[in-house]
Amino acid sequence: MRLVVLMALLPILSSASLPPPEGSYKILFLLPYTTRSHRILHRTLATNLADRGHQITMLTNQAPSSKHPNIHEFTHGIREADYDSFNVFEYLKENEESFAPSAFIIETLGRKLYHIQEVKDIYNKRKEFDLIVIDSYMNDVVYPFVHEMPFIVLCGMGLEPMHSAVMGNVLNPAYTPSMQYLWNHPLSLIQRAVNIYGSINFGFIYKHRETVPVAQAEIDKHFPGLSPLLELEKNVSLSLINSHYSLDMTQPLLPSQIEVGAMHCRPGKPLPKDVAQWIEEAEHGVIYFSLGSVHRGEFLPVNYRNIVIEAFTQMKERVIWKFEKELEGLPDNVLIRKWLPQQDILAHPKVKVFITHGGLLSSQETIYHSKPVLVIPIYFDQPKVAAKLQRAGFGITLNLKELTVPLVVDSLNEIINNPKYAEAVGQASLLLRDQKETPIDRAVWWTEYVIRHRGAPALRSPGADLSWIEYLCLDVLVLVHVGTFTLFWVSKKLLALACRVNKKKKTE
Ligand SMILES: *[C@@H]1O[C@H](CO)[C@@H](O)[C@H](O)[C@H]1NC(C)=O
Repeated sequence: MRLVVLMALLPILSSASLPPPEGSYKILFLLPYTTRSHRILHRTLATNLADRGHQITMLTNQAPSSKHPNIHEFTHGIREADYDSFNVFEYLKENEESFAPSAFIIETLGRKLYHIQEVKDIYNKRKEFDLIVIDSYMNDVVYPFVHEMPFIVLCGMGLEPMHSAVMGNVLNPAYTPSMQYLWNHPLSLIQRAVNIYGSINFGFIYKHRETVPVAQAEIDKHFPGLSPLLELEKNVSLSLINSHYSLDMTQPLLPSQIEVGAMHCRPGKPLPKDVAQWIEEAEHGVIYFSLGSVHRGEFLPVNYRNIVIEAFTQMKERVIWKFEKELEGLPDNVLIRKWLPQQDILAHPKVKVFITHGGLLSSQETIYHSKPVLVIPIYFDQPKVAAKLQRAGFGITLNLKELTVPLVVDSLNEIINNPKYAEAVGQASLLLRDQKETPIDRAVWWTEYVIRHRGAPALRSPGADLSWIEYLCLDVLVLVHVGTFTLFWVSKKLLALACRVNKKKKTE
């Protein structure tokens, strides 16, 4: 009850409450290789900036979808970088590894991108823009754009240790697991040891072995004499990070690292009539099932699909399922749609549980809208997100490979009937919503701030200009060692000399 009252008292957090902008700026978004969920974040920022009268140009790997008059979107059309047709279940059949940054895609992008006429045109006009916005991961090929230009980075995956280090903030490996590990804090002694090695190794492989070098080789052919990509990257003014301490982990951040986690979350809007009616008329409440935007439901292998369908027939609740194809012989309590307004469904009080793959954005939405979860992680960072949701008490995680009908039914019944899950996620929702300003307002304000102050050099950490030898004071350690050794050596020699003189005196 207290929870409900508090929720009602909190201001609705999505209304833009910023003072009007100083003028209309031209902003260029570059995201040649992004998943749909990262594009959702970029579009949220772009739309809110466009609403304030700024002119947005956006390069993506997908057909334009924005109808905003101030947003001009275009795609490079390079097939290899089309993430949306990626069938993760096929991929997982052949690859155990679920965290493989594909150097091949980066290489192809590097080779083809600057041959595309529209990209060339924008490149030549890049100095007309007031700011460039880049997606932080796997988009290194666009760094030639930022030469002598102010730019910011959007970290869609949350606080990335590798990118934080570029900004001059090396995250402490004692409690910050490297991206490839599924661990969450607290780490055991062995995990911490492995984590230190893994954190260094991950960055080293990405930057110096596999990913960036292949992009660099291609970029060198187009832009001979340009500073290396890794140098250009270092001039970043600010990063907008898709995290919040209440969702993730409290971290020491620089003033130039802005947490905007859940900035795409907003209160629910009215649902389409048929869906609204289906939900309203559900006597026992509703289960919402979606595997997110990356894994289309239609790619789900038939054996798993049959398990969930069989489980749904045993539930008295109604089920709404995001699935991209027609399905024969569905039970009466199941409604499928190709596309569903996820946040509006999650916001509905009749929805009892969300069956999700544990994508980062879905996890933020479910917390924002205060819905417990049944998580079936598939790959990438999802097992990690799933583990975190379960540990926080927001629901139950099931392993896809061990899925059975009774397991799904029992888990759903437990989540729906045991109030502890809804209570835990309700508390988290309060923390996430209780902020001085909305995350999206914060993102917009800081973006304009960087433009107002021409890259805002005052924000720059001195740590960003040090080499890692200087940053870790390894040179100082060497100095101390050499100094100590020298002192020891000299003292020893002097002592030996003194002894000899003494002996000589005695024999005389
Ligand atoms: C670094 O960024 C500033 C603005 O943020 C810009 O004026 C300067 O030219 C950039 N330097 C390089 C080498 O790109």
